[in-house]
Amino acid sequence: MNDGQATISVGVADSGIRPLTQDDLPRVMELERLGHSHPWTEGIFRDCFKGSYRVWAFVYEDELVGYAIVSYQFDEAHLLNVCVHPNFRGMGMGRKLLQHAIAVARDDDLACMILEVRKSNRAATLLYRSEGFQQIGVRPKYYPGPSGGEDARVMELQFT
Ligand SMILES: CC(C)(COP(=O)(O)OP(=O)(O)OC[C@H]1O[C@@H](n2cnc3c(N)ncnc32)[C@H](O)[C@@H]1OP(=O)(O)O)[C@@H](O)C(=O)NCCC(=O)NCCS
Repeated sequence: MNDGQATISVGVADSGIRPLTQDDLPRVMELERLGHSHPWTEGIFRDCFKGSYRVWAFVYEDELVGYAIVSYQFDEAHLLNVCVHPNFRGMGMGRKLLQHAIAVARDDDLACMILEVRKSNRAATLLYRSEGFQQIGVRPKYYPGPSGGEDARVMELQFT
C-alpha cells in the first residue's frame, strides 16, 4: 500500500498535499467549525489516525487550508470528510484534494470510492459529479438538520 508520505505538487504555487498529522488538529478543528453545520469532534478526527484511514492536508504558503479524510473498508475507499477554508474556496483546492485521495486509493488497488453528501450541498455535489461520481442511492434523514434531518445522496466512483 502507498503510505502517501511524499508531499505532492498540485499545481497551485506554494502549495502541496501531505499527510495530515495529529499536530494539525487545532487548525483542522478551526476549519471544521467553519465548514460544517454539525462539525466533527476532535475525538472523531483522532480516531482517523489509524492504518485503515488516509488523511490529507492541503497546505498553502505553510498554512493548512484544507483536508480530506478517507476510510478504507475492504476494497472500498469511503470519503468521509473534505473541507476547504472559506477564504480559499473556488481556487481548485477541493478538487485537488479529491483527485489526490482518488489517485492514492487507485494506487492502493481499491475498487471504488463511495461518499455521502447532503442533498442541499450543491458545491460538493457538482464537484463530485465533475470527477465522475454517480448517485447510487439516497439515505433518508442521514444528516442532522433543523427539521428532523436531511437526506444524503450516496455517490460512487468505480475505478475499473
Ligand atoms: C465542497 C468544497 C470542499 C469544495 O472546495 P473548493 O476548493 O471550493 O472547490 P474547487 O474550487 O476545487 O471547485 C471544484 C468544483 O466544485 C464545484 N463548486 C465549488 N464551489 C462551488 C459553488 N460555490 N457553487 C457551485 N459549484 C461549486 C464546481 O463544480 C467546481 O468546479 P469549477 O470550478 O470547474 O466550476 C468546499 O466548498 C467546502 O469546504 N465546503 C464545506 C465543507 C463541505 O461541504 N464538504 C463536502 C461534504 S463532506
